[in-house]
Amino acid sequence: MKQEKIRLLFVCLGNICRSPSAEAIIKKLVQDAGLESRIDIDSAGILGYHEGELPDSRMWMHGSRRGYVLDSRSRPVKTSDFYTFDMIIGMDDRNMDDLRRKAPDMESVAKLHKMTDFLENKLYDHVPDPYYGGASGFKLVLDLLEEACQGLLDTISSISDN
Ligand code: 4NP
Repeated sequence: MKQEKIRLLFVCLGNICRSPSAEAIIKKLVQDAGLESRIDIDSAGILGYHEGELPDSRMWMHGSRRGYVLDSRSRPVKTSDFYTFDMIIGMDDRNMDDLRRKAPDMESVAKLHKMTDFLENKLYDHVPDPYYGGASGFKLVLDLLEEACQGLLDTISSISDN
């Protein structure tokens, strides 16, 4: 990867389940690839309802079992994020609609991506919200995010190498 730093922001509704997991998974991939100095990673929520909270304890537990460190504090998306970050990655169509509404200009809209676009296996077109469900929902979130984060990192690496 030749180019300067790339800044990634993962977004879900509450910033306590899906987006902090995406943040933790890609941080591990980036660390394993020795790319920490090239990629900045953060996450945020559409809602400010959980602001300041650590990730949901169920998400934290399932993530920890796979070796991920979920330690970010929830915060809402802010307008400056659309200028700071290069890619803003939502988890479902509702997140994408909300992000498009919040985007201050067309350049910001062009930075929006959906996480499942980076899946090789296109069986899912969104990362389902696990908040009101059981353990299988949290495991599915991790399965989808693990594959999509690898796809995203491959995409970034191929763009940067060209
Ligand atoms: P997340 O899950 O968007 O993946 O963080 C949710 C967390 C909280 C709520 C909804 C979804 N909530 O309604 O409080």
